[in-house]
Amino acid sequence: MNLADSEEMAAHLLLRGYALTDNLDEADLALVNTCTVRDHAEHRALSFLGRLRQWKREKEGRHIIFAGCAAQRLGEKLKKTFPYLDLVSGAREIDHFASLLDNSGLFSAAQGGEAQPHGITGYVTIMRGCDFACTYCIVPSVRGPVHCLPSADILAQAAQKARSGCPEIMLLGQTVNAWKEDGKTFADLLNEVSALPGVQRVRFVSPHPAFITPQFLAAVENNPKIARHIHLPVQSGSTKVLREMKRGYTRETLLEKIDALKERGFALSTDLIVGFPTETEADFEETLSLVQRAGFSAAYCFKYSPRQGTPAAQMKLLPEKILEERLDILLNKVKGLAEAAYAAQVGKEKEVLMESPNKGRTSDNFWAQTQKSYTIGTVVRSRIASAEDTLLMTRD
Ligand code: 5AD
Ligand code: SF4
Repeated sequence: MNLADSEEMAAHLLLRGYALTDNLDEADLALVNTCTVRDHAEHRALSFLGRLRQWKREKEGRHIIFAGCAAQRLGEKLKKTFPYLDLVSGAREIDHFASLLDNSGLFSAAQGGEAQPHGITGYVTIMRGCDFACTYCIVPSVRGPVHCLPSADILAQAAQKARSGCPEIMLLGQTVNAWKEDGKTFADLLNEVSALPGVQRVRFVSPHPAFITPQFLAAVENNPKIARHIHLPVQSGSTKVLREMKRGYTRETLLEKIDALKERGFALSTDLIVGFPTETEADFEETLSLVQRAGFSAAYCFKYSPRQGTPAAQMKLLPEKILEERLDILLNKVKGLAEAAYAAQVGKEKEVLMESPNKGRTSDNFWAQTQKSYTIGTVVRSRIASAEDTLLMTRD
């Protein structure tokens, strides 16, 4: 989601005469888009901002914009600590980013045209904010309540991205499958996006398990353009911890949904938190066994990080050593499962959507390397000859 927001903000800057560079030395402007979901993320953003002080001094006319969730949380007080900062643009202000630029008086006026997306995936934000209240999470207070974008705008944006060369559309939202509109469900939207000319594949991130229902499954299971992969953050495998996190599901209801998705050919990845304050050794074991049972092909694993103002931040922390040990064990487990998931693809026929001449992704989100070179954005159908760690080799 941050990539998509960065792309959106960058597009407004491109229209004002800037060009993208990866090289800070040749840049005239640094746009720092930030995350605050864990303390570590915010810390890294702020220390980067600290390093930009010297960068700004080195050349006349350089500017710094600090954007996103850390910007939202810390607000104007950032300018006290970092007086050389030119603009602060909180995550909730992204829709007004263009006028923020114009009102700052720092940039020239926008000049026509639409910025071209780079890469084969067109990101389309369909909702922002979150109506849940997970006890560890800062997102609802930073991003605010759910706001769904109108389907007409979403479809127009997706169609435009497909026209400009994105065969894959990725729908985005904090709880993306909470999207709804009078008489229209998230599944309807997925089906409509997939029917747009030029769209080969539709992905979405991040769904909440609460909205993975039999109706949803029935509405998407016969549409092959909807990617056979779902990133479904589960956070924990212990019903007790899930209750204390206020996730709104139990281990059992979660497993039912996981099984239903797997039966329909969906590969699953997830997010997991270790060391939530009340997590016992037995709770952690339940997470390990759920991860094993679900056979996730990938998982992002995080040490619990207390966030100011959240209910869980009042609770007593577990010792850091325990968090580190559990993270280590979980990461090992996840690595083994990822390799097993890749190995299980050998011999299967797959459709690889090429992201570079020799590499692309399957619908179920495995990376595959082809023998021959192909045009980026085309779909290559081939049997899988072998798997090396987390890369499939095609037989094409
Ligand atoms: N500590 C650790 N991880 C967190 N996440 C959200 N809040 C916290 C926190 N306080 C993780 C969740 C979420 C992902 C984006 O970040 O796993 O799915
Ligand atoms: Fe945070 Fe929970 Fe909302 Fe996800 S569903 S953004 S974890 S509050």
